[in-house]
Amino acid sequence: TGTSSFVVVANRLPVDRVVTPGGETTWRRSPGGLVTALAPVMRAYDGAWVGWTGSPDDAPEPFSTADMDLRAVPLSAEEITLYYEGFSNATLWPLYHDVIVPPEYHREWWDAYRQVNERFAAAAAEVADENAVVFVQDYQLQLVPQILRSMRPDLKIGFFLHIPFPPQELFAQLPWRRQILEGLLGADLIGFQRDGAVGNFESLAELFTGASAVGDTLVTDDGRSVRARAFPISIQVDEVARLAEDPEVQARAATIREEVGSPRHIMLGVDRLDYTKGIGHRLKAFGELLRDREVTPEDAVFLQVATPSRERVEAYQTLRDEVELQVGRINGDYGRIGTPAVHYLYSSYERAELVALLRAADVMVVTPLRDGMNLVAKEYVTARTDLRGALVLSEFAGAADEMGTGAFLVNPHDIDGLRRTMMAAMRVDDAEAEQRMKLLRDHVISHDIDRWAHDFLAALRAV
Ligand code: G6P
Repeated sequence: TGTSSFVVVANRLPVDRVVTPGGETTWRRSPGGLVTALAPVMRAYDGAWVGWTGSPDDAPEPFSTADMDLRAVPLSAEEITLYYEGFSNATLWPLYHDVIVPPEYHREWWDAYRQVNERFAAAAAEVADENAVVFVQDYQLQLVPQILRSMRPDLKIGFFLHIPFPPQELFAQLPWRRQILEGLLGADLIGFQRDGAVGNFESLAELFTGASAVGDTLVTDDGRSVRARAFPISIQVDEVARLAEDPEVQARAATIREEVGSPRHIMLGVDRLDYTKGIGHRLKAFGELLRDREVTPEDAVFLQVATPSRERVEAYQTLRDEVELQVGRINGDYGRIGTPAVHYLYSSYERAELVALLRAADVMVVTPLRDGMNLVAKEYVTARTDLRGALVLSEFAGAADEMGTGAFLVNPHDIDGLRRTMMAAMRVDDAEAEQRMKLLRDHVISHDIDRWAHDFLAALRAV
C-alpha cells in the first residue's frame, strides 16, 4: 500500500467487519451513498480512505478493497467517550442542531477532540501523494484541514459539513469557536448543505478570525483564499430506483400492506433514533388525530422505524424512553386487539426492506426539528416509480430548499399544522399526488449524489 493522489478522511471507514464461520476477518462495504459516489473517483486515482472502524483500540494493518486503500485510525475506549460521544455528539451535534438539547462544554472533551483530529490529519498526511486532493468529511473532523495544511502545504484540501452550520447566536456559545473556524479555514473549499449555512460561516469567520470576505471568497489573515459554497448532498438514485423496481421488493411491499390490514392508510417514519428528527412531535400529532376521531386505527396506522444510534450518549437514552412511553400510551389508548395504532420498530434494516417500506407507505412523514439535508425524503420519492404516495416534509430540513414545491411542507413545532398537513397528505387525490411526485422525482433524479461529488471535486480542483 503506497500513497494516493485522492484521499477521503471521515470519522468512520466505509466498511463493516465480517467474521466468517471459519473465524476469518473480512470487510464488507457499508451501504452509504457517499462511498458509492466516491468509488469511481477512488478507482481512477488509487484512492485511500482514512477513518475509524467503530470499535475501541482497533488498528488493523492498511488493507484494500476493489476500490480503495483503507487506513484505520485507532481510538481508545476513553477517546470514544471524550471525542466521539462527548465533544462530537454531546457538544457539537446539539449546538449545530439549534440546541434542541443543551450542549455540554467540557475542556477534557475538547482536548481529546484536538488530539484525535491531529491523529486523523497525520494519517492523511502519511498516505497523500505530493499535490494530492484530500476530502475531509463532517463535524467530527473540523480541525483536520488546518492541521493537515501545516503538515503538508502542497495538498489541495476540501471539507464538507453534512450537518447544519448554526447562526452566530448559537455558535458564539462555543468556548473554542475561534479554533473551530480556523480549523475549517485550513481548507481551500468548504462545502455546506444550504446557502444559509454559508452565510453563517462567512460572518462568523469575519467576526472571530482575521478573515475578510471579498466577493465570494474569504481571505484569511495570512492571505490565503478560501471558498465557501453550498453543495446540497443527495442519494444514489440508481440503487434506490433499481430496488424499487425489483419484483421481490414490490412483493414485499404488498405483503407489508396486507399485514398492517390494507386498506388502512400507512403513515411512515424512518429515522435514526435522534432528538433532531421530531419523532415525538409527529407521534403527538397522530395521537391527537386518533383522540379527536379524525382517524381511527381501522383507517390509518403509523409505522415508525427507529434505527439505534449513539446508544451510550445520555440524551439518546432519554429520547428512547420518551418515544417508547409515547408509543405505548397511544397503543394503550387507541389500539385494539390485532390492530395497534402505531407499529414501532427499534432496529436497522437491509436496504431492500427499507425500500419495500417506502413503496408501501401512503404518506412519508419527515419532520425533523433541524436536519442538514435528510436523505430519507429523497429516497422516498426516488422509490415511488409508481408516482403514488405523498411526502410531509419539515421546513427545517435542508431538503426543503429543493423539495418545497412538491412536498407538503410543515413546521413540526406547530402540532395543529402537523395534524392538518398529515390529513391533507392522506386525503390528496391521485391526480394531485402524481403531479407533486413528478416534480419531486424530476429534481432528485437530476441531482443525485454522483452530481454532488462531481460538482464538489470540480470546484475544489478549480480553486
Ligand atoms: C449523521 C452525520 C454522520 C454520521 C451519521 C451516523 O449523518 O452527519 O457524520 O456518520 O450521522 O452517526 P454515527 O455517530 O453513528 O457515525
